[in-house]
Amino acid sequence: MKKFNIVIVGGGSTWTPGLLNSLCKKKSEFPLGKLVMYDIDEERQSVIGEFAKILFKEKYPELDFNYTTDKETAFTNVDFVFCQMRTGGYTMREKDEKIPMEFGVIGQETCGPGGFAYGMRSIRDMIQLVEDVRMYAKDAWILNYTNPAAIVAEALNRVFHDDKKILNICDQPVNLLRSYGKILDMDPYEFEPVYFGLNHFGWFTHLYDKEGNDLVPVIKNIVKERGFAPADAEQRDKSWLETYAMVEDMLKDFPEYLPNTYLQYYLYPEYKFKKMNPEFTRANEVIEGRERRVFEECRRVAEEGTTQNAHVVHNDAHGDMIVEVAESIAYNKHRLYVVIVENNGLIGNIQNDAMVEVTATLGANGPRPYGVGNVDTFYKGMIEQQLAYEKLTADAYFEGSYSKALKALTLNRTVVDAKKARKVLDALIEVNRDYWPELK
Ligand code: G6P
Ligand code: MN
Repeated sequence: MKKFNIVIVGGGSTWTPGLLNSLCKKKSEFPLGKLVMYDIDEERQSVIGEFAKILFKEKYPELDFNYTTDKETAFTNVDFVFCQMRTGGYTMREKDEKIPMEFGVIGQETCGPGGFAYGMRSIRDMIQLVEDVRMYAKDAWILNYTNPAAIVAEALNRVFHDDKKILNICDQPVNLLRSYGKILDMDPYEFEPVYFGLNHFGWFTHLYDKEGNDLVPVIKNIVKERGFAPADAEQRDKSWLETYAMVEDMLKDFPEYLPNTYLQYYLYPEYKFKKMNPEFTRANEVIEGRERRVFEECRRVAEEGTTQNAHVVHNDAHGDMIVEVAESIAYNKHRLYVVIVENNGLIGNIQNDAMVEVTATLGANGPRPYGVGNVDTFYKGMIEQQLAYEKLTADAYFEGSYSKALKALTLNRTVVDAKKARKVLDALIEVNRDYWPELK
């Protein structure tokens, strides 16, 4: 069996231990020759890296592993780049979430002005990353999970349009499929989903079982009766449980399809705003929760020299998915995933150059997406407004345009009012000077 070489960009991420664990679990299906972790933050990464050494000594002794801050060492001779960077770290995530709230607007990592701010930061580093990777590994697959995935995908599609080995993908559809599997007591790997929309902005229209029966109506009924929760509810913080619970509300108002949880921010911006605590946002929850736990545990493992009592991994959906996606490409397995690709008629009545999220098979030659035909007016309107926001955000970045940025935020359903948009934008510019291009 051919062995593959992988680099994890953002080695110091709180998600890395889970990903490493998935790589260990799947070493017989997807064996690795070399694994490198790469990060610009040496200190953060070394904590995870030292944990990894012990993990691999126990579970993957044959693996050639190291971690580095050097690009050439990181990218030379790799087949897959797993990219999960966070420009500005949780410090900036906290600002993304809190600043909009000062003006009465949703504060969220990928939606609304928070996502705008994060997007403007991610674009520069992601372009640089692709250039760096291509310098040393021109044929490597770049599997990108960096957020906000919609904005990143739009920007990368503009700059590297002919590079067919960049795949932007998000784990939320898989998280949802696992949750449907749980309530139906079925294996989510057996589902054949039909999905359309934009990243963090889409709907499952059908979910077929092996015999071709559509399970969407069944799921809707169960959610109506019992509500909705994530598959790994016991490991989730309060805000995520509330987020999943909102699927019931969304189905009440828009009963056609199963919505991606992120739609709650766009459909109920005022209601959700009132429920959010401007003093303690998701960033705080993560900093005090996952981040603290992961780093404490990794340090402890390094000290004790064994992973025996380690609890660094909480949710394996994310890591498993990243590994399975690579495996599907590596061995041309043509498994089904919801991925982000250029529209070109997949959603019939949406412009061709949109980066849309749909189901695709994933094989050695990349995604082969399934079209969904035309979508109804409500969904078309929702998507086009959000798409315009995304496109204008990328325009604002590439043109250094304040006016485009203002238009983008005004079109975002979490903002709407242009005076508010201007205030939020000005406040975000202040704190993002080191990261954004100057907006004139
Ligand atoms: C889901 C989304 C990701 C997002 C993550 C946030 O998995 O698909 O795009 O980054 O949630 O999780 P967090 O626990 O950091 O709020
Ligand atoms: Mn996502």
